Amino acid sequence: MINISKVINLPNFDNDMDNLEIALKDSVRHDDSFLDEVALHLIEAGGKRLRPALTLVSSLLGSAENDASATKDVITGAVSVELVHLASLYHDDVMDEALTRRTVESVNARWGNLVAIVAGDYLLARSAEIAASLGSEVAQLLAAALGKLCAGQVAEVNSTFKPDRSIEAYENAISGKTASLMATACHIGSLVGQVDREFIPKITEYGHDLGMAFQIRDDILDIASNFEDLGKIPGQDLAEGIYTLPTILTLKDPKFKEDLKILLGKPLDEGSQKLAKDIVLESGSVEQSFEIAKLYIDKSVAALSVVPDTSAKISLINLASSLLDGVIPDSTSQLT
Ligand code: IPE
Ligand code: IPE
Ligand code: MG
Ligand code: MG
Repeated sequence: MINISKVINLPNFDNDMDNLEIALKDSVRHDDSFLDEVALHLIEAGGKRLRPALTLVSSLLGSAENDASATKDVITGAVSVELVHLASLYHDDVMDEALTRRTVESVNARWGNLVAIVAGDYLLARSAEIAASLGSEVAQLLAAALGKLCAGQVAEVNSTFKPDRSIEAYENAISGKTASLMATACHIGSLVGQVDREFIPKITEYGHDLGMAFQIRDDILDIASNFEDLGKIPGQDLAEGIYTLPTILTLKDPKFKEDLKILLGKPLDEGSQKLAKDIVLESGSVEQSFEIAKLYIDKSVAALSVVPDTSAKISLINLASSLLDGVIPDSTSQLT
Protein backbone atom coordinates (compact mmCIF):
# COMPACT_ATOMS: atom_id res chain seq x y z
CA MET A 1 0.00 0.00 0.00
CA ILE A 2 2.83 2.43 0.78
CA ASN A 3 5.48 2.59 -1.90
CA ILE A 4 8.11 4.87 -0.41
CA SER A 5 10.31 5.10 -3.46
CA LYS A 6 7.34 6.30 -5.54
CA VAL A 7 6.62 9.29 -3.32
CA ILE A 8 10.19 10.34 -2.64
CA ASN A 9 11.32 12.22 -5.70
CA LEU A 10 15.02 12.44 -5.06
CA PRO A 11 17.19 11.17 -7.92
CA ASN A 12 19.60 9.31 -5.65
CA PHE A 13 17.08 7.93 -3.19
CA ASP A 14 16.80 4.44 -4.69
CA ASN A 15 20.55 4.17 -4.84
CA ASP A 16 20.86 5.31 -1.21
CA MET A 17 18.25 2.71 -0.21
CA ASP A 18 20.20 0.01 -2.08
CA ASN A 19 23.29 0.98 -0.09
CA LEU A 20 21.25 0.90 3.10
CA GLU A 21 20.11 -2.63 2.28
CA ILE A 22 23.66 -3.87 1.90
CA ALA A 23 24.78 -2.13 5.10
CA LEU A 24 21.78 -3.51 7.00
CA LYS A 25 22.56 -7.09 6.04
CA ASP A 26 26.25 -6.64 6.81
CA SER A 27 25.43 -5.16 10.20
CA VAL A 28 23.97 -8.38 11.62
CA ARG A 29 26.28 -10.98 10.04
CA HIS A 30 27.73 -13.42 12.54
CA ASP A 31 30.20 -16.32 12.45
CA ASP A 32 27.63 -18.51 14.15
CA SER A 33 25.59 -19.64 11.16
CA PHE A 34 22.43 -20.18 13.22
CA LEU A 35 22.49 -16.67 14.70
CA ASP A 36 23.30 -15.34 11.25
CA GLU A 37 20.20 -17.05 9.80
CA VAL A 38 17.90 -15.94 12.61
CA ALA A 39 19.16 -12.34 12.50
CA LEU A 40 18.75 -12.10 8.73
CA HIS A 41 15.32 -13.77 8.67
CA LEU A 42 13.10 -10.68 8.76
CA ILE A 43 15.57 -8.42 6.95
CA GLU A 44 15.42 -10.74 3.97
CA ALA A 45 11.65 -11.00 4.22
CA GLY A 46 11.37 -7.32 3.27
CA GLY A 47 9.44 -4.59 5.06
CA LYS A 48 8.78 -1.04 4.04
CA ARG A 49 12.03 0.44 5.45
CA LEU A 50 10.05 3.53 6.42
CA ARG A 51 12.25 4.54 9.37
CA PRO A 52 15.60 4.38 7.55
CA ALA A 53 13.99 6.23 4.63
CA LEU A 54 13.06 9.00 7.09
CA THR A 55 16.67 9.14 8.29
CA LEU A 56 18.06 9.36 4.75
CA VAL A 57 15.64 12.04 3.55
CA SER A 58 15.91 14.08 6.79
CA SER A 59 19.68 14.19 6.33
CA LEU A 60 19.17 16.06 3.05
CA LEU A 61 16.91 18.78 4.45
CA GLY A 62 19.81 21.22 4.59
CA SER A 63 20.83 20.66 1.02
CA ALA A 64 19.62 23.00 -1.71
CA GLU A 65 20.84 20.59 -4.38
CA ASN A 66 18.28 18.18 -5.71
CA ASP A 67 20.81 15.45 -6.48
CA ALA A 68 22.51 15.17 -3.07
CA SER A 69 23.15 11.66 -1.71
CA ALA A 70 23.07 10.33 1.82
CA THR A 71 26.55 10.12 3.35
CA LYS A 72 28.06 6.90 4.69
CA ASP A 73 27.47 8.11 8.27
CA VAL A 74 23.82 8.81 7.51
CA ILE A 75 23.42 5.28 6.15
CA THR A 76 25.05 3.98 9.33
CA GLY A 77 22.53 6.00 11.38
CA ALA A 78 19.66 4.63 9.29
CA VAL A 79 20.89 1.06 9.89
CA SER A 80 20.97 1.59 13.64
CA VAL A 81 17.38 2.92 13.53
CA GLU A 82 16.05 0.01 11.44
CA LEU A 83 17.77 -2.48 13.76
CA VAL A 84 15.88 -1.10 16.76
CA HIS A 85 12.64 -1.42 14.77
CA LEU A 86 13.54 -4.95 13.71
CA ALA A 87 14.34 -6.00 17.27
CA SER A 88 11.04 -4.52 18.42
CA LEU A 89 9.27 -6.73 15.86
CA TYR A 90 11.09 -9.86 17.14
CA HIS A 91 9.98 -9.03 20.67
CA ASP A 92 6.51 -7.76 19.72
CA ASP A 93 5.74 -11.02 17.92
CA VAL A 94 6.61 -12.95 21.07
CA MET A 95 4.32 -10.68 23.09
CA ASP A 96 1.49 -11.02 20.53
CA GLU A 97 2.15 -14.73 19.85
CA ALA A 98 2.14 -13.74 16.17
CA LEU A 99 2.60 -16.44 13.56
CA THR A 100 3.41 -14.30 10.54
CA ARG A 101 5.45 -11.18 9.88
CA ARG A 102 6.40 -9.57 6.57
CA THR A 103 4.49 -12.43 4.85
CA VAL A 104 6.84 -15.09 6.31
CA GLU A 105 6.78 -17.14 9.49
CA SER A 106 7.61 -14.97 12.51
CA VAL A 107 10.87 -15.73 14.32
CA ASN A 108 9.03 -17.02 17.40
CA ALA A 109 6.79 -19.27 15.29
CA ARG A 110 9.79 -20.71 13.48
CA TRP A 111 12.39 -21.05 16.23
CA GLY A 112 10.47 -20.44 19.49
CA ASN A 113 10.21 -17.59 21.96
CA LEU A 114 13.63 -18.03 23.55
CA VAL A 115 15.46 -17.68 20.25
CA ALA A 116 13.27 -14.72 19.24
CA ILE A 117 14.01 -12.88 22.46
CA VAL A 118 17.76 -13.42 22.45
CA ALA A 119 18.07 -12.74 18.72
CA GLY A 120 16.11 -9.50 19.27
CA ASP A 121 18.59 -8.62 22.02
CA TYR A 122 21.43 -9.32 19.59
CA LEU A 123 19.90 -6.87 17.09
CA LEU A 124 19.63 -4.23 19.82
CA ALA A 125 23.27 -4.81 20.77
CA ARG A 126 24.37 -4.38 17.16
CA SER A 127 22.27 -1.24 16.89
CA ALA A 128 23.84 0.27 20.01
CA GLU A 129 27.36 -0.55 18.84
CA ILE A 130 26.73 0.94 15.40
CA ALA A 131 25.04 4.07 16.80
CA ALA A 132 27.96 4.61 19.19
CA SER A 133 30.32 4.75 16.21
CA LEU A 134 28.53 7.99 15.25
CA GLY A 135 29.16 9.59 18.64
CA SER A 136 27.53 9.80 22.02
CA GLU A 137 24.68 12.12 20.94
CA VAL A 138 23.34 9.63 18.38
CA ALA A 139 23.82 6.71 20.79
CA GLN A 140 21.95 8.60 23.48
CA LEU A 141 19.06 9.52 21.16
CA LEU A 142 18.58 5.95 20.08
CA ALA A 143 18.78 4.59 23.62
CA ALA A 144 16.19 7.17 24.72
CA ALA A 145 13.89 6.14 21.86
CA LEU A 146 14.25 2.49 22.83
CA GLY A 147 13.36 3.35 26.42
CA LYS A 148 10.20 5.14 25.25
CA LEU A 149 9.34 2.25 22.93
CA CYS A 150 9.57 -0.20 25.83
CA ALA A 151 7.52 2.09 28.09
CA GLY A 152 4.84 2.28 25.37
CA GLN A 153 4.80 -1.51 25.01
CA VAL A 154 4.57 -1.98 28.79
CA ALA A 155 1.71 0.55 28.98
CA GLU A 156 -0.07 -1.38 26.27
CA VAL A 157 0.40 -4.74 27.99
CA ASN A 158 -0.87 -3.16 31.18
CA SER A 159 -4.05 -2.01 29.43
CA THR A 160 -4.95 -5.30 27.77
CA PHE A 161 -8.50 -6.53 28.20
CA LYS A 162 -9.48 -3.21 29.81
CA PRO A 163 -12.55 -1.83 27.99
CA ASP A 164 -12.19 1.46 29.89
CA ARG A 165 -8.86 2.29 28.20
CA SER A 166 -8.98 6.03 27.45
CA ILE A 167 -8.03 7.77 24.21
CA GLU A 168 -5.32 9.58 26.18
CA ALA A 169 -3.84 6.30 27.44
CA TYR A 170 -3.94 4.93 23.89
CA GLU A 171 -2.21 8.02 22.49
CA ASN A 172 0.47 7.91 25.18
CA ALA A 173 1.17 4.25 24.43
CA ILE A 174 1.48 4.71 20.66
CA SER A 175 3.55 7.84 21.13
CA GLY A 176 6.05 5.67 23.01
CA LYS A 177 5.93 2.44 21.08
CA THR A 178 5.85 3.85 17.54
CA ALA A 179 6.13 7.63 17.21
CA SER A 180 9.26 7.98 19.35
CA LEU A 181 11.37 5.86 16.97
CA MET A 182 10.02 7.67 13.88
CA ALA A 183 10.86 10.99 15.58
CA THR A 184 14.34 9.71 16.36
CA ALA A 185 14.81 8.45 12.80
CA CYS A 186 14.30 12.03 11.60
CA HIS A 187 16.35 13.50 14.46
CA ILE A 188 19.35 11.28 13.77
CA GLY A 189 19.12 11.92 10.02
CA SER A 190 19.09 15.69 10.38
CA LEU A 191 21.80 15.63 13.05
CA VAL A 192 24.22 13.40 11.16
CA GLY A 193 23.35 15.19 7.90
CA GLN A 194 24.37 18.46 9.59
CA VAL A 195 21.07 20.20 8.98
CA ASP A 196 20.96 23.58 10.77
CA ARG A 197 20.30 22.75 14.43
CA GLU A 198 17.54 25.34 14.76
CA PHE A 199 15.30 23.19 12.51
CA ILE A 200 15.92 19.83 14.17
CA PRO A 201 13.13 20.04 16.80
CA LYS A 202 10.55 20.69 14.06
CA ILE A 203 11.91 17.89 11.87
CA THR A 204 11.70 15.58 14.89
CA GLU A 205 8.13 16.74 15.50
CA TYR A 206 7.29 15.83 11.91
CA GLY A 207 8.56 12.28 12.54
CA HIS A 208 6.60 11.99 15.77
CA ASP A 209 3.28 13.09 14.27
CA LEU A 210 3.82 10.93 11.21
CA GLY A 211 4.42 8.02 13.60
CA MET A 212 1.15 8.71 15.44
CA ALA A 213 -0.74 8.64 12.13
CA PHE A 214 1.16 5.52 11.11
CA GLN A 215 0.16 3.55 14.22
CA ILE A 216 -3.48 4.65 13.94
CA ARG A 217 -3.33 3.48 10.32
CA ASP A 218 -1.90 0.13 11.44
CA ASP A 219 -4.62 -0.18 14.07
CA ILE A 220 -7.34 0.58 11.50
CA LEU A 221 -5.87 -1.99 9.11
CA ASP A 222 -5.79 -4.65 11.83
CA ILE A 223 -9.56 -4.33 11.93
CA ALA A 224 -10.35 -3.50 8.33
CA SER A 225 -7.78 -5.18 6.10
CA ASN A 226 -6.68 -8.66 5.07
CA PHE A 227 -3.61 -10.90 5.14
CA GLU A 228 -2.70 -10.34 1.48
CA ASP A 229 -2.39 -6.58 1.95
CA LEU A 230 -0.87 -6.70 5.43
CA GLY A 231 1.59 -9.59 5.33
CA LYS A 232 0.47 -10.32 8.90
CA ILE A 233 -2.72 -11.83 10.25
CA PRO A 234 -5.42 -9.19 10.91
CA GLY A 235 -7.77 -9.16 13.87
CA GLN A 236 -4.96 -9.77 16.35
CA ASP A 237 -5.52 -6.65 18.44
CA LEU A 238 -9.09 -7.50 19.44
CA ALA A 239 -8.15 -11.14 19.97
CA GLU A 240 -5.20 -10.21 22.22
CA GLY A 241 -7.23 -7.68 24.22
CA ILE A 242 -5.46 -4.65 22.74
CA TYR A 243 -8.25 -2.11 22.39
CA THR A 244 -7.08 0.44 19.84
CA LEU A 245 -8.63 3.70 18.67
CA PRO A 246 -11.52 2.25 16.57
CA THR A 247 -12.53 -0.01 19.47
CA ILE A 248 -12.19 2.75 22.08
CA LEU A 249 -14.34 5.07 19.94
CA THR A 250 -17.01 2.39 19.46
CA LEU A 251 -17.09 1.95 23.24
CA LYS A 252 -17.98 5.65 23.52
CA ASP A 253 -20.89 5.42 21.08
CA PRO A 254 -24.20 5.02 22.96
CA LYS A 255 -25.65 3.08 20.03
CA PHE A 256 -22.96 0.38 19.96
CA LYS A 257 -21.13 0.40 23.28
CA GLU A 258 -23.27 -2.10 25.20
CA ASP A 259 -23.18 -4.71 22.42
CA LEU A 260 -19.41 -4.45 22.16
CA LYS A 261 -18.66 -4.24 25.88
CA ILE A 262 -20.40 -7.55 26.53
CA LEU A 263 -17.86 -9.27 24.26
CA LEU A 264 -14.71 -7.57 25.55
CA GLY A 265 -12.61 -7.96 28.69
CA LYS A 266 -11.71 -11.58 27.94
CA PRO A 267 -10.12 -13.66 25.17
CA LEU A 268 -12.41 -14.04 22.16
CA ASP A 269 -13.26 -17.21 20.26
CA GLU A 270 -13.44 -16.89 16.49
CA GLY A 271 -17.18 -16.22 16.41
CA SER A 272 -17.06 -13.48 19.06
CA GLN A 273 -14.03 -11.95 17.39
CA LYS A 274 -15.96 -11.60 14.14
CA LEU A 275 -18.97 -10.22 15.99
CA ALA A 276 -16.83 -7.62 17.80
CA LYS A 277 -15.11 -6.64 14.57
CA ASP A 278 -18.45 -6.24 12.77
CA ILE A 279 -19.75 -3.96 15.54
CA VAL A 280 -16.62 -1.79 15.33
CA LEU A 281 -16.91 -1.60 11.54
CA GLU A 282 -20.60 -0.78 11.65
CA SER A 283 -20.19 1.96 14.24
CA GLY A 284 -18.26 4.23 11.88
CA SER A 285 -15.33 4.44 14.30
CA VAL A 286 -12.90 3.37 11.60
CA GLU A 287 -13.81 6.50 9.65
CA GLN A 288 -13.52 8.59 12.84
CA SER A 289 -10.08 7.09 13.53
CA PHE A 290 -9.09 7.88 9.97
CA GLU A 291 -10.02 11.54 10.55
CA ILE A 292 -7.87 11.62 13.68
CA ALA A 293 -4.96 10.09 11.73
CA LYS A 294 -5.45 12.81 9.11
CA LEU A 295 -5.12 15.48 11.82
CA TYR A 296 -1.74 14.01 12.77
CA ILE A 297 -0.70 14.06 9.11
CA ASP A 298 -1.70 17.74 8.92
CA LYS A 299 0.32 18.42 12.08
CA SER A 300 3.35 16.62 10.70
CA VAL A 301 3.28 18.69 7.50
CA ALA A 302 2.73 21.91 9.47
CA ALA A 303 5.81 21.17 11.59
CA LEU A 304 7.95 21.41 8.45
CA SER A 305 6.68 24.86 7.50
CA VAL A 306 9.67 26.63 9.10
CA VAL A 307 12.16 24.32 7.40
CA PRO A 308 13.65 25.77 4.17
CA ASP A 309 12.02 24.55 0.96
CA THR A 310 14.10 21.79 -0.63
CA SER A 311 13.39 18.65 -2.66
CA ALA A 312 13.90 16.62 0.51
CA LYS A 313 11.22 18.63 2.30
CA ILE A 314 8.79 18.14 -0.60
CA SER A 315 9.51 14.40 -0.42
CA LEU A 316 8.70 14.29 3.31
CA ILE A 317 5.47 16.20 2.67
CA ASN A 318 4.54 13.80 -0.15
CA LEU A 319 5.28 10.85 2.09
CA ALA A 320 2.98 12.20 4.80
CA SER A 321 0.26 13.09 2.30
CA SER A 322 0.19 9.58 0.83
CA LEU A 323 0.58 7.62 4.08
CA LEU A 324 -3.14 7.05 4.48
CA ASP A 325 -3.86 6.26 0.82
CA GLY A 326 -5.99 3.17 0.34
CA VAL A 327 -6.81 2.77 4.04
CA ILE A 328 -10.45 3.81 3.82
CA PRO A 329 -11.50 2.29 0.45
CA ASP A 330 -10.14 -1.04 1.71
CA SER A 331 -12.07 -0.73 4.90
CA THR A 332 -15.25 0.22 3.07
CA SER A 333 -14.91 -2.79 0.80
CA GLN A 334 -14.69 -4.97 3.93
CA LEU A 335 -18.08 -3.64 4.97
CA THR A 336 -19.82 -5.00 1.92
C1 IPE B 1 5.12 -2.47 12.16
O1 IPE B 1 5.83 -1.47 11.50
C2 IPE B 1 5.00 -2.10 13.59
C3 IPE B 1 4.24 -0.86 13.79
C4 IPE B 1 4.75 0.18 14.35
C5 IPE B 1 2.87 -0.79 13.40
P1 IPE B 1 5.93 -1.42 9.92
O2 IPE B 1 4.54 -1.52 9.34
O3 IPE B 1 6.74 -0.25 9.52
O4 IPE B 1 6.69 -2.78 9.59
P2 IPE B 1 7.65 -3.15 8.37
O5 IPE B 1 8.99 -2.64 8.73
O6 IPE B 1 7.11 -2.52 7.12
O7 IPE B 1 7.59 -4.65 8.33
C1 IPE C 1 3.93 -2.76 17.45
O1 IPE C 1 2.62 -2.37 17.30
C2 IPE C 1 4.81 -1.63 17.76
C3 IPE C 1 6.19 -2.10 17.94
C4 IPE C 1 6.71 -3.13 17.31
C5 IPE C 1 7.00 -1.40 18.88
P1 IPE C 1 1.68 -3.50 16.76
O2 IPE C 1 1.63 -4.65 17.71
O3 IPE C 1 0.39 -2.90 16.34
O4 IPE C 1 2.48 -3.96 15.46
P2 IPE C 1 2.05 -5.17 14.53
O5 IPE C 1 0.63 -4.91 14.14
O6 IPE C 1 2.23 -6.41 15.32
O7 IPE C 1 2.98 -5.03 13.36
MG1 MG D 1 2.04 -6.70 17.28
MG1 MG E 1 -0.74 -3.73 14.69
